[in-house]
Amino acid sequence: MSKKLYISTYGCQMNVYDSARMADLMAPLGYTLTDKPADADMAILNTCHIREKASEKTFSELGRLRNMRQDKEAKQDGDMIIAVAGCVAQAEGAEIMKRAPYVDMVFGPQSYHHLPQMVAQATRGVGHILETDFPVEPKFDHLPEDAIDKNLSAFLTVQEGCDKFCAFCVVPYTRGAEFSRPVAAIVDEAKRMIAGGTKEITLLGQNVNAYHGEGADGKPASLATLIQKLAEIDGLHRLRYTTSHPLEMTEDICRAHRDVEILMPYLHLPVQAGSDRILAAMNRRHTANEYRRIIDKLRHYRPDLALSGDFIVGFPGETEQEFEDTLQLVRDVEYAQAYSFKYSPRPGTPAAALGEEMIEETVKSERLARLQALLNEQQLAYNRSFVGKEIDVLLEREGKREGQLVGRSPYMQSVFVPSPAHRIGRIATVIVQEGNANSLRGELKPGSVADAA
Ligand code: 5AD
Ligand code: SF4
Repeated sequence: MSKKLYISTYGCQMNVYDSARMADLMAPLGYTLTDKPADADMAILNTCHIREKASEKTFSELGRLRNMRQDKEAKQDGDMIIAVAGCVAQAEGAEIMKRAPYVDMVFGPQSYHHLPQMVAQATRGVGHILETDFPVEPKFDHLPEDAIDKNLSAFLTVQEGCDKFCAFCVVPYTRGAEFSRPVAAIVDEAKRMIAGGTKEITLLGQNVNAYHGEGADGKPASLATLIQKLAEIDGLHRLRYTTSHPLEMTEDICRAHRDVEILMPYLHLPVQAGSDRILAAMNRRHTANEYRRIIDKLRHYRPDLALSGDFIVGFPGETEQEFEDTLQLVRDVEYAQAYSFKYSPRPGTPAAALGEEMIEETVKSERLARLQALLNEQQLAYNRSFVGKEIDVLLEREGKREGQLVGRSPYMQSVFVPSPAHRIGRIATVIVQEGNANSLRGELKPGSVADAA
């Protein structure tokens, strides 16, 4: 009989990818996905620890699951295995077991390939299972043959972990040291994704441009080399990669933006702050001007490159002038879109120990509002600059309105067009009519998309 698996996913694309792989691993055990936790025979919370309140959210969702399990038991409707996965599990495994002893298993991002064994143990009533080691054997070698993302626009993890140790960040502790998958394994997975219908692949890594997987000659290959290899595969129309660190924006990857036709003109390159003193305190290992020069180089090779970034306001000790330096950097770079956050101390990171320099919440909120106003203004101006232009859109799915499709431009904007649903999966030329804060609106250029299958 089919069993139901509920997975609740928080955080980054890497967690989305991991959740999909967990579902793939559980399928051979008879588990199919459900979006109703109350029906689940097993519930997994795939958690994120990067910013505030992650663990509180985890505990309140766990409480709800426990109540649902009790309801099921009362109705004699079977049991529910409750599992916590992801980065909160990695960082606070023992604490979770203590505070929520009804949880059956806790495992970090490097252990999910052991899921079938862990589930077998849990159903045998072996007791609590805690797996938060960083095993030496890479989990990717243990994924089932068909555990791949076959969406039109799909993700492919090529690198995991981070050795950068930015002073505010938990990733080096929760995801562990940098690890890159070999080129051949990635090319193979990409080919299977494309055979399954994928047209756009986003290469994922916490520090993707630090990629150094084994190449055909047995030596480490760079991200640029990997991208060139992937671009040779027939049937792949678009490639992207995320997330990158400025230190590894090497000449070859910058040049790939000029030379590799299917590499999309969009780059997420977080800078976090615009003041050199704060950047040093964050252990970012580059200055604001070094970042500006990288942007200049990228735009030299690819003038229409759309830039995205991450920013943290109110890092311990940040003065008003230092915050203004961030605003100035944003004005200089001109972002197509960006993410910005208030600093929040993560236990165990060096910045969390800078107690006396913590910035007041009200000051952080006020700085965040000013930064976001500037970023929103840039994003709107960027989107409006497309009005009257033609762009290629990969039509991915139906929009909210009837008779409407939505897809992505090469620059990552969501684009809405009136179109029948059978065009999903096509790359169509769209004439942009309207540029809004978060999307573009337009119409298909007549004759730009063939209707015959
Ligand atoms: N506080 C606020 N923002 C953070 N980020 C990472 N750690 C913290 C923290 N402690 C942000 C960074 C990073 C993004 C994924 O999350 O901007 O690039
Ligand atoms: Fe965290 Fe810095 Fe690594 Fe990014 S580069 S994952 S911010 S430590």
